[in-house]
Amino acid sequence: MQNTEHLKQNIFAAVNEYCAANHNFNFDPKNPVIRLHEPTFSAEEINAFLEPMLTTHVTMGKEVRKFEEQYAKEFGHKYGVMNNSGSSANLLAVAAIANPATENNLKAGDEVIVPSLSWSTTVWPLIQSNLIPVLVDCDPKTFNLDLNKVEAAITPKTRAIMLVHVYGNPCDMDAMMTLAKKYNLQIIEDTCESMGAYYKGRAVGTFGRVATFSFYFSHHITTLEGGITVTDDFKLAETMRIMRAHGWTREADEHQKYVAQYPDIDPRFIFVNLGYNLRPTECQARMGQIQLPKLAGFVNRRRQNIERYLQNLSKYSDIFDFQHETAEARSSWFGFSVILKQNCPFKVKEISDYLKSKNVENRPIIAGNIGYHPVMKMYEHRMAGDQSASNNIMKNGFAFGCHQSMNDAAVDYVCVQVDDFVKNYKK
Ligand SMILES: Cc1ncc(COP(=O)(O)O)c(C=O)c1O
Repeated sequence: MQNTEHLKQNIFAAVNEYCAANHNFNFDPKNPVIRLHEPTFSAEEINAFLEPMLTTHVTMGKEVRKFEEQYAKEFGHKYGVMNNSGSSANLLAVAAIANPATENNLKAGDEVIVPSLSWSTTVWPLIQSNLIPVLVDCDPKTFNLDLNKVEAAITPKTRAIMLVHVYGNPCDMDAMMTLAKKYNLQIIEDTCESMGAYYKGRAVGTFGRVATFSFYFSHHITTLEGGITVTDDFKLAETMRIMRAHGWTREADEHQKYVAQYPDIDPRFIFVNLGYNLRPTECQARMGQIQLPKLAGFVNRRRQNIERYLQNLSKYSDIFDFQHETAEARSSWFGFSVILKQNCPFKVKEISDYLKSKNVENRPIIAGNIGYHPVMKMYEHRMAGDQSASNNIMKNGFAFGCHQSMNDAAVDYVCVQVDDFVKNYKK
């Protein structure tokens, strides 16, 4: 075989040169643009992605396993099961918790409490597993589940809470776990927008029976698309490994156990459960390996940006509200949210259009109250009680970026645009 190492090095060098010439995601005061997000990756990740491509060993294998171990170790989980998106992670986690192979599994018709301020694919997996989502309002300050409203929504059919740490802001996990214990509820953490966040020094995602993370392009770190489920429950992890890949035993830790148990079936193709194909690639896993050590730095930058936003904009506390981080929480700030108070003279659309015209991208906070999206009419669910906080966030809230590529000058640029809008606003 020819020694082609030098060719590979040439490719990597060319990628390095290309990225150095083209990838500058930092704020440019001469051409100010504040996107909701900028890429977290460049040459190092692209070369890591290319490595398996060059070998052609791209399908799930040792690099995925290595990344799963690295990720689990980083945050103190026992097992990680990587998959191809945060939505897939939610699908897999819920399907596994509701699977007959799982101890104390959720059953068809069981109710699961879920925040109304959450993402579509936080809720869909519950419906897809024949569970009944019960949508509960959030606290207007933290944007996380209002635990008084959660308690009021509990019925004898309630078996679990699928919580979201909204926009990176950790829920009050002491109170949450106390409530879960009182009513014997399982906790599933949708941690897809809160990677790198901590509650009392403990990583979010380590409290529930299972948790899910997303590595989508616009998240704290990325594998382009990608996700991971984490758990300390070995059997649940095995069920997720099996369900991730067709219901096949091949990637299960205990594959040999099944081989011994079913000697009449070809050991290469034993199916012991239902499943999907939610597998990631080796390329994504290699990217993840490089991205993960950068997470803490990215989160620190987000936190500095938020501090500066608050310094600059708290003078508007008569007309604006902001998402609150409690003393126990260390948010990883997915975005910076603004809620227009009742006496604010203008509407979200007016300020949002103005900011867009000044190249400041903005968006609704998650998707507002997911219970009010048209799709919900088709599926059984319950809107539990008063939804005023989520509705208010849907109607009067918007968010803009606080990502790792922003600096003080970028934050100041956004704040100056807000100042100009507020100062010059005429009805
Ligand atoms: C709370 C929450 N859950 C799940 C997801 C889905 O993640 P993905 O986009 O990787 O499918 C998102 C996406 O942003 C999210 O915010």
